Amino acid sequence: MPILFDSEKRIFKLDTSTSSYVIQIFEQEYLAHLYYGAKIPDTNLSAFIFRSPFASFSPNNINIDDWRFSPDVCPLEYQGEGCGDFRISAVAIKNADGNNVTDMRYKSHKIYSGKPSIQGMPSLYLEDDSEASTLEILTEDSVTGIQAVLYYTVFEKLGAMTRSTKIVNPTDKTVDIEKVYSCSVDFVTHDYDLLTLYGKWGKERNLERRALAHGRQGVSSKRGSSSHFQNPFAALVDSDTTEDFGNAYGFNLIYSSNFAVDVEVDGYGGTRLLMGINPETFGWKLESGCSFSAPEAVMVYSANGIGDMSRTFHKLYAKHLVRGKWKNIKRPLLINNWEATGMDFDGDTIVSFAAKAKELGIEMLVMDDGWFGYRNDDRSSLGDWQVNEEKLGGTLANLIERINALGLKFGIWYEPEMISRDSNLYRAHPDWCLHVPNREKSIGRHQYVLDYSRQDVRDYIFNEMYKVLSVNKVDYLKWDFNRNLTEVGSAILPADRQKEVFHRYVLGTYEVMDRLTKAFPDMLIENCSGGGGRFDPAMLYYSPQIWTSDNTDPIERLMIQFGTSMCYPASTMGAHVSACRRTGYETKGNVALWGTFGYELNPNKYTEEDAELVRAQVAEYHKYYDVIHFGELYRLISPFDNAYRAAWMFVAEDKSEALVTSVVMREPYDKAFCLKLKGLDPEKYYRDEETGEIYSGALLMNAGLCLTWTDEHDGKSFKKYFKAI
Ligand code: DGJ
Repeated sequence: MPILFDSEKRIFKLDTSTSSYVIQIFEQEYLAHLYYGAKIPDTNLSAFIFRSPFASFSPNNINIDDWRFSPDVCPLEYQGEGCGDFRISAVAIKNADGNNVTDMRYKSHKIYSGKPSIQGMPSLYLEDDSEASTLEILTEDSVTGIQAVLYYTVFEKLGAMTRSTKIVNPTDKTVDIEKVYSCSVDFVTHDYDLLTLYGKWGKERNLERRALAHGRQGVSSKRGSSSHFQNPFAALVDSDTTEDFGNAYGFNLIYSSNFAVDVEVDGYGGTRLLMGINPETFGWKLESGCSFSAPEAVMVYSANGIGDMSRTFHKLYAKHLVRGKWKNIKRPLLINNWEATGMDFDGDTIVSFAAKAKELGIEMLVMDDGWFGYRNDDRSSLGDWQVNEEKLGGTLANLIERINALGLKFGIWYEPEMISRDSNLYRAHPDWCLHVPNREKSIGRHQYVLDYSRQDVRDYIFNEMYKVLSVNKVDYLKWDFNRNLTEVGSAILPADRQKEVFHRYVLGTYEVMDRLTKAFPDMLIENCSGGGGRFDPAMLYYSPQIWTSDNTDPIERLMIQFGTSMCYPASTMGAHVSACRRTGYETKGNVALWGTFGYELNPNKYTEEDAELVRAQVAEYHKYYDVIHFGELYRLISPFDNAYRAAWMFVAEDKSEALVTSVVMREPYDKAFCLKLKGLDPEKYYRDEETGEIYSGALLMNAGLCLTWTDEHDGKSFKKYFKAI
């Protein structure tokens, strides 16, 4: 059993194949956090409870005789507010007396095989209970009677854990939850660097590394989405950790709304990392007999560097997060009309794209924004999900028939959470969007955000979608979301519940997505938010792929894809070849192959030479699909570290094949170029498919390939495919 309880020492030990996590129930039922890191066999760790002597100004606690103990200094598991721990608290609940002093202590626990799901929220799932074990610790505030249930699930084989928290109100009074983090982890040292993913529209998930400083630091969102600007991912790594060596602790929150990753280094040199709903924009009234569940946080530890941490996330998400028909089967290679036409198209244009695409070997045509209401630009019609038959030159069914007759599948675009100011829906229901009384509503892309905290609004939108999707053969749906939330209030909630709207909104979004996946289990859903503005694990629970960025420039994409790969697998990253300015089609294809692959251009504009290249790329897509989608990613040269080149490779899990790609961002003056490969079997021999040369895996990883004479110009790239012999 990966979770053990030593009842004499009152110690919990949670082991994966690579890590240990140790908790002790200390005197007065304090939950002390003793250790998280590389796997250890024993638990002689209690001395860490007293990690710093002479802690003046840190309270010694009532009824604990040992003067060395202070809740302000002891590494704790899930600490409350205002009771002697001055670090960032994990939970604060305002009780009926009007104060928010909160002090959760151990009450009882359960250990079992399997993993509970979280009502109404996405979380990792198991195919079989034997895949993970769970520890549930019930804690309680003895004064208010409010309880916090701490969930720890251990994925033994994958070196990963999840944590989440549920607040329960068994009392007869209503209380206000002011904050509830999903997890809090105390480390007794602070020699860490913090890795986070910052960005903006068109430039998402840039890797940023900074040394921790004393005091508070962290990243967050209050945009009503996980956002382009910060991703709900963070890692603590030793200051000397690299891609291949050293300790790396990765954290990722399964949540698509306002999150916070807060880190504090205290005066005694300890580090606390908390992850959860951003308390700045949150509040929840918890009535008698009710409970509130915080989202799930995923924790991955690796002793072998950042690359190994990423690969663990990738395996975990491919197996335990992504769901449905498209989880393991090959997804259709698509062409999308957006970059070529915008909203300026008709049915014949779409069919002409499909006809040419078919000739090139493309398998699905996606009709993007502009097919509904009277939408010909971004000023109108969101919410009016009726087919514009005049624009399409017939019914949607006719159009799909024409596309299917060419041998292509058909996909469609929706933006279900939005309402245009100029729409029939807005004229009929002006109170259906998020707003607060007496305040002008901020507009973004000429649209408002529907109040998805309301059941009537959600039902209406779902039913309108159902009317179209249930009578038409739609194989794929792109779910877009093109602005952030402002003036966040709901017309139907009372004043003292308005702070709940952000969270209720995202629960509403999850609900509609869940209904959609259940009503149309065969339909492939691709998530999108102006590119990758909601690239997070919660969205991956509903859609196995996400449009990574609206920026399809292959050089910019290198940064975006390297950053995204910190925790998200290649199979989830929407990546297309477009007609953008930089590099030729070969490099565009080599970069897009890293993700789900597809095209975003007018295929009728191809020259015969381009078309030949596309046919070759389509063949490569099929040839390399398994190694990219089911293999392991090794980042070889990061564009964040090197101004000239980027390189990466995928290796099949059984090490039988590998695909290496390198792109020149700027032609290096220094032509010497040796590339050491990674992840191969040192004992196996591999044939370079292009040259026929045979090398041992050991040679390729230790001496590397000498590529000095490769043709390297700005924007050039190459691939090398190795097959074990
Ligand atoms: C933003 C998306 O990222 C684009 O791909 C496209 O679907 C547009 N929205 C359509 O409005």
